[in-house]
Amino acid sequence: MSIRLTINGQPFDFAGEPEKPLLWVLREDVGLSGTKYGCGVAACGACTVHVDGVATRSCSLPVGAAAGAEIITIEGLAASNDAGRHPVQQAWERLQVPQCGYCQSGMIMAAAALLVKNPRPEDDEINAAITNLCRCGTYPRIRAAIRSLASEA
Ligand code: FES
Ligand code: FES
Repeated sequence: MSIRLTINGQPFDFAGEPEKPLLWVLREDVGLSGTKYGCGVAACGACTVHVDGVATRSCSLPVGAAAGAEIITIEGLAASNDAGRHPVQQAWERLQVPQCGYCQSGMIMAAAALLVKNPRPEDDEINAAITNLCRCGTYPRIRAAIRSLASEA
């Protein structure tokens, strides 16, 4: 029996093991490689996607647990705006947030989910909500980009 997922608004039927992590279904079976593998143990946040609007570490979510949920990946976030980029992505570009870029799709997904819940987060709220790791140390620019969107809200 297959597992019906909705990914970036499109249905996808997954016929494999329900224990397979959502991250690997997205990357290997769906072909969406924007979601990254970092640690595999829910520690780094590189694999963050939205599951029913909640920022979720997809390396640690069995695909069976996502059955019926609305999943949005970085590719879907980009497509959700007429400009071809989500406002968070535009802020990231304006403030030149990324360095190597590896952690950034997870950071952007975490930031987008935070801003839906809290359009004007203070620094301590940003730090509490976004626990993703960045080995390049882009945290100050991430906070600045989020604050730039908060001031527009
Ligand atoms: S790869 Fe999922 S949290 Fe690190
Ligand atoms: S930009 Fe390099 S790990 Fe975050």
